[in-house]
Amino acid sequence: MNGGMILDGKKIAAEIRMELRAEVEAIKASGQRVPKLGIVLVGNNPASETYVNNKMKACAEVGIEAVKIAYSPDIAEQTLLTQINRLNSDETIDGFIVQLPLPEHITETTILSAIDRRKDVDGLTPENVGRTVQGLPSIISATPRGIRELLARYQIPTAGKHVVVIGRSNIVGKPMAILLMQRPYLSLPSMSAASLGDATVTICHSKTQDLASICRTADIIIVAAGCPNLLTAEMVKPGATIIDVGINRVEDPNSPRGYKLVGDVDFEHVAPIAGAITPVPGGVGPMTIVSLLQNTIQAYNEHSR
Ligand code: GUN
Repeated sequence: MNGGMILDGKKIAAEIRMELRAEVEAIKASGQRVPKLGIVLVGNNPASETYVNNKMKACAEVGIEAVKIAYSPDIAEQTLLTQINRLNSDETIDGFIVQLPLPEHITETTILSAIDRRKDVDGLTPENVGRTVQGLPSIISATPRGIRELLARYQIPTAGKHVVVIGRSNIVGKPMAILLMQRPYLSLPSMSAASLGDATVTICHSKTQDLASICRTADIIIVAAGCPNLLTAEMVKPGATIIDVGINRVEDPNSPRGYKLVGDVDFEHVAPIAGAITPVPGGVGPMTIVSLLQNTIQAYNEHSR
């Protein structure tokens, strides 16, 4: 395949895990307790179970203590809220997440709003998102943080670029757009702060008219719509950077599992004309998990040491 450089999230995430492991080892060596993450899982959504297992494994690899707290799918919202409040006041837990999606009888925003922002290591509470919007110190939503880190490690600048974000979810589209358009205030070691943020951002969604022509003007396209093959080659300017956040299970009789994972991008036809592109799996997914680890260590450093 000619064309697009593959943005190898799996490899970059493994490198960052090694860096974090050194940080945790230094904490241990200084005689302090290690950071501890709680992962709340409600019900038995198979994809969620896989994500949670991957998060537990990543914690083990860097030496972060992780505890899975599983509830049955029919737990009452009030009972779950009580459990969240317990985690908020549990001094041995530095941060926790509630794996999404939640069962339909539970209101996601009610649960997320109950999480103490200092322990909100997925960066999804209204406080953290609001603080990010205003450029105040915050815990940044895990997926946008991971995408920003991936761009930084591959030295892909966003300043002055036209970035099109497809998808307006609270967990990816909205915080991603904010981070990209913002004046940079958090520096990353791998890139000067000045080259992150400062983008011209267009947010597109299911009601956008003529998505294709908007996308064709983009230097960077971030697709988070949950729709296989949404982004096709005709929508991409040659040389553009393509970030695929989609993780869709599609039937595949040739796979022993009966399905395969695909993103929101028609990878086969887009990759040859893109300047750089993330694969699915192995692109954004591992970066989201590494952001969770970084956010957990951040919460520990800011509030627990
Ligand atoms: N479900 C899909 N992605 C995520 C994520 O990043 N965090 C949580 N909590 N749930 C998810």
